[in-house]
Amino acid sequence: MRHLPRARLLALQLALLVASGALEAPLSAPRSLVWGPGLQAGVVLPVRYFYLQAVSSEGQNLTRSPPGQTLFRVVIKSLSPKELVRIHVPKPLDRNDGTFLMRYRMYETVSKGLKIEVLYGDEHVAQSPYILKGPVYHEYCECPEEDPQAWQKTLSCPDKEPQIEKDFASFPSINLQQMLIEVPKRFGDERGAIVHYTILNNHIYRRSLGKYTDFKMFSDEILLSLTRKVLLPDLEFYVNLGDWPLEHRKVNETPGPLPIISWCGSLDSQDVILPTYDITHSTLEALRGVTNDLLSIQGNTGPSWINKTEKAFFRGRDSREERLQLVQLSKENPQLLDAGITGYFFFQEKEKELGKAKLIGFFDFFKYKYQVNVDGTVAAYRYPYLMLGDSLVLKQDSPYYEHFYMALKPWKHYIPIKRNLSDLLEKVKWAKENDEEAEKIAKEGQLTARDLLQPHRLYCYYYRVLQVSSEDPSCLVECPQAKKWPESLLPEGAQESACGTLATLRNTLNAS
Ligand SMILES: *[C@@H]1O[C@H](CO)[C@@H](O)[C@H](O)[C@H]1NC(C)=O
Ligand SMILES: *[C@@H]1O[C@H](CO)[C@@H](O)[C@H](O)[C@H]1NC(C)=O
Ligand SMILES: *[C@@H]1O[C@H](CO)[C@@H](O)[C@H](O)[C@H]1NC(C)=O
Repeated sequence: MRHLPRARLLALQLALLVASGALEAPLSAPRSLVWGPGLQAGVVLPVRYFYLQAVSSEGQNLTRSPPGQTLFRVVIKSLSPKELVRIHVPKPLDRNDGTFLMRYRMYETVSKGLKIEVLYGDEHVAQSPYILKGPVYHEYCECPEEDPQAWQKTLSCPDKEPQIEKDFASFPSINLQQMLIEVPKRFGDERGAIVHYTILNNHIYRRSLGKYTDFKMFSDEILLSLTRKVLLPDLEFYVNLGDWPLEHRKVNETPGPLPIISWCGSLDSQDVILPTYDITHSTLEALRGVTNDLLSIQGNTGPSWINKTEKAFFRGRDSREERLQLVQLSKENPQLLDAGITGYFFFQEKEKELGKAKLIGFFDFFKYKYQVNVDGTVAAYRYPYLMLGDSLVLKQDSPYYEHFYMALKPWKHYIPIKRNLSDLLEKVKWAKENDEEAEKIAKEGQLTARDLLQPHRLYCYYYRVLQVSSEDPSCLVECPQAKKWPESLLPEGAQESACGTLATLRNTLNAS
């Protein structure tokens, strides 16, 4: 092409760019940006990840991915040819906004280190190759960092978690002796779903209070994952595995409220909350069968904004009456709303009238511009995933909340709708008539959710709850009757004690 006049060449290039839909200068591999926790050896996570921003040869961030199949790829090898390790590196996730998410899961530890090449075609991107000096641990390495502060620093944990501060404000001191007596009585009955955990010398001990404690597999797995990464403080706490938060006593009542730890909070309870078992489990099992996780969702957000269907969308089970109302509204206003119930359990008599909608894959939700988030039994645990998409979320007012809601503001990150849905259609109409603003709110919500819901932040959050729980010295109490439980009841690495209090465990372990 060298003999073409320069003007014609430029015109041709421009025409090609216009034809390809990218009115941006071509991508520059060296000017593109690469960053994130997955480039640091010390950030041990089930799935490590980092980000890529495509940048043009003129230094401008691309806001859409280069057309066609992406040429970005990542090659990860052990630094030492003698260390053969299995590392799963899926294709980069195209976030459809000029940024990409790179993930990898290590199945073994490398002692010398890792070499991460980020390539665009055959060209190195940004500072590629990245060298991670070993040891680089995999998820199942029992390799806790002994200095928790150093660990938090490596993870860039935030200095403050406002929700944790708020939750513990109700509990200036924790009376474990009182909990030991009261928790089994109040919450450990037949229908109870409480697990009493004790952590001592970075080992997990627990006993179940109540019949419905199968979900302890979720609390076990994250606690064990934490002990592999960082030295946990010695402490005891009670986790509520049920849907509803439990402690409804007011702060100024006597006797006062107990710091029960739950997955979902509500305005009329005092429970201390953790990230839900749903996002926790999917973070732990990402790239191992779980397909919806906080990372994968980011690369599966459907068509671009302008190509999304201009309707509000909902599919879900019949776990709350408003969901049925939503279907009714949808039947009356099909041009604004497409809502359907995919499974009946609570309101079976309604199935005839409202019909049953076909199941649809979650990624396909994002074919629609507006997503309706209506509570289920408690908060709808799909909300984090919806926020990570690039649709506008219409969120039902709710007394229930998860660990990250506090940072999200109505009209900035999502559109609020009344609990009885009376203004839903009006809000959908507003969004249709104010497309630019709607898109802006959708984008702002997505960016904030991407930041808040990073998997390493989840670990920071869990650690911080345990840390604050252990700060009160009265956390070490005596327990009169200690009894060992059969090892078979325990998850790998955990031990169970009928009494489960620190002091007794200490004595038992010292004696044996
Ligand atoms: C380009 O993208 C990077 C990473 O997303 C961001 O930090 C930077 O502020 C962006 N630059 C401009 C000029 O928007
Ligand atoms: C919208 O869809 C059309 C038809 O499939 C496609 O040609 C166009 O590139 C899409 N626009 C965007 C911004 O993705
Ligand atoms: C819906 O709730 C609002 C209060 O949020 C109330 O003013 C309104 O009357 C309710 N509408 C219906 C139809 O119940």
